[in-house]
Amino acid sequence: MTAPIRICLGVSGSVAAYKSAVLARALIKLGFDVHTILTRSAENFVGPATFAGITGNRVHTAQASHSAPGELHVELAAASDAVVIAPATADLLSRLAHGRADDLITAVALCAACPVFCAPAMHPHMWSHAATQRNVSLLGTDPNVTLIGPDSGEVASGDTGFGRMREPEAIASDVAAALSSGDLAGRTLLVSAGPTVEDIDPVRFIGNRSSGKMGYALAARAARRGAQVTLVSGPTQLPTPGGVTRVDVRSALDMQAALHDSLDGADAVVMSAAVGDYRAKEQLAEKLKRSAASLTLELAPNPDVLAGLGKQRTGSRPLLIGFAVETARGSELVDLARGKLERKNVDMVVANHAADSFGHDDNVAVLVTRDTAHPLPKMSKVALADEVLSWIAKKLAQ
Ligand code: CTP
Repeated sequence: MTAPIRICLGVSGSVAAYKSAVLARALIKLGFDVHTILTRSAENFVGPATFAGITGNRVHTAQASHSAPGELHVELAAASDAVVIAPATADLLSRLAHGRADDLITAVALCAACPVFCAPAMHPHMWSHAATQRNVSLLGTDPNVTLIGPDSGEVASGDTGFGRMREPEAIASDVAAALSSGDLAGRTLLVSAGPTVEDIDPVRFIGNRSSGKMGYALAARAARRGAQVTLVSGPTQLPTPGGVTRVDVRSALDMQAALHDSLDGADAVVMSAAVGDYRAKEQLAEKLKRSAASLTLELAPNPDVLAGLGKQRTGSRPLLIGFAVETARGSELVDLARGKLERKNVDMVVANHAADSFGHDDNVAVLVTRDTAHPLPKMSKVALADEVLSWIAKKLAQ
């Protein structure tokens, strides 16, 4: 028999904390082993005895954690398969977003390599406040963190709006679905990310502004959803996501070669890299010296890597997904993306406006296929990655 999945349930101080007891029960009914942490202010709303009684496990409180020997947060983080923070107050989201570790639950979340789910609960004014929205955007850049809710409805004060904690049973089933969402288990994904860099001489290059965030989010989320992922990355400042095999490249030709080397057995290739269309025709071994005369740099075209993959495939696999960064919007954007889809023989193009995407943590995109165009609201690149991966998972299962 395998051990049950262990959940660390963090309860912070909100009126909605009473619902966490129902959540604990719902998680247990789904077969999880639940270990609770109460923040100091949560204890003003609910008591440890309730959670100890429901979960059958010792409850960690602010006071108990101070007297515990060893590094309790390290131990709890290592032992947990998921952290669920419900309710997550505005204050808790803020501390989490800034990597604070000033109580046991934030210390565990900071130390944990497992997924962290937060169910926000607060007054609608607090949720819509620019500060909270900033924190939510920041959390969106953390591939480990998923927000569940909040929902729109009545909150404790009697006011109505976004800020109501999702109902406990729905949180429990969202967590269960996410943890079992091995919807990409057994699949192999090849993801390209970041810019390509074309050297002119030993100190100069032609590059672009791609940060790599989109491709890294795709790789991280795909691995989290059970896929075997190879990430072919141009130069970025980003850390390698857990469970992902990373191959570093520099130029478009390097990227093409690395993708071809890893192509065997791939179920899908997602080309989110901003591949440079041109390289210096001649790469100089010595530094180019300044002169008073004007200088013309001759450029040679790079291969279209994605179109090459499209041309080379004989059947319907691997699925090919491209990105189209344009300076158009609306139906013009969709037409440009569909043109690329047809020219490059790919299955889906994620289309966006350059101003919405480059360097940002969020994005506004349209998912364009041969016969559909699905516009998405503004969302984090991590959330957009999940949308793209859900499309891939469904398509591969057909
Ligand atoms: N792409 C590629 N190789 C290139 C250029 C682009 O594989 N040399 C891929 C990108 O990774 C992306 C898709 O093609 O998935 C579209 O890239 P984009 O730069 O928008 O299109 P281009 O074909 O370069 O067209 P243009 O720059 O003229 O809009």
